[in-house]
Amino acid sequence: MDILKCEHITKLYGRGEGQIYALNDISLSIEQGSFTAITGPSGSGKSTLLNMLSGLDRPTKGDIWFQEGKLSGYNDNQLSVLRRRRFGFVFQNYNLVKELTGWENVLLPVMLDGRKPDEAYLKRMVEALGIGNRMDHLPGAMSGGQQQRVSIARALANKPAILFADEPTGNLDGKSGREVLSLLRSLSRELGITLILVTHDLNVAEQAERVLQLEDGRIAMDRGVKSA
Ligand SMILES: Nc1ncnc2c1ncn2[C@@H]1O[C@H](COP(=O)(O)OP(=O)(O)OP(=O)(O)O)[C@@H](O)[C@H]1O
Ligand SMILES: [Mg+2]
Repeated sequence: MDILKCEHITKLYGRGEGQIYALNDISLSIEQGSFTAITGPSGSGKSTLLNMLSGLDRPTKGDIWFQEGKLSGYNDNQLSVLRRRRFGFVFQNYNLVKELTGWENVLLPVMLDGRKPDEAYLKRMVEALGIGNRMDHLPGAMSGGQQQRVSIARALANKPAILFADEPTGNLDGKSGREVLSLLRSLSRELGITLILVTHDLNVAEQAERVLQLEDGRIAMDRGVKSA
């Protein structure tokens, strides 16, 4: 069953001479529970694609569906509720709130939704990510890799249907990167989380069931279990 689908999405930035197609006619569908890696050179549109698929930004043209719901039919408030309840997002630059501790950052999305966090789940996750002893610190007192792992814990806190992650191991050494990936894969199996990861990390791409390669805003290669 498909959980996410897009048809002919295009994203144009700028005007006139400076106009660029960050995405140019992308169509694909993603199987529920699957693990997709998105690769491609810098500037090829990877982050833009993740932003469109996750409803963070809207395409210039084309449509996106999460399950039966067409994202263009949602207003901004409905989109942010969908994102908060069903999606997790790991940003390329983490986007942690500087004034909040690690724990507060992780709890924030669940609290904003007026729900009680699953503390046992969160503790287990934070331990598995190897940041259990850093969670009372502010992001400014953490290494890049630690901030990255806090942002992964935050994205998983609501047990999302889909985890969108932009270079989630980009700031980690080989061993920590493998540990993070193995946590994501086991949570994906246990909770049925669909993984969509942008990555330059060959180890990550090798473990994915499907690899989509972008070039100049288009799909240059789609290797895997299922094509659009
Ligand atoms: N807000 C924006 N305004 C104008 N152009 C943008 C904007 N965001 C991205 N672009 C352009 O769109 C293209 C795709 O950018 P995108 O950030 O999606 O690339 P990427 O594949 O994620 O690259 P990287 O590997 O460096 O993160 C680039 O040419 C970029 O300069
Ligand atoms: Mg990017």
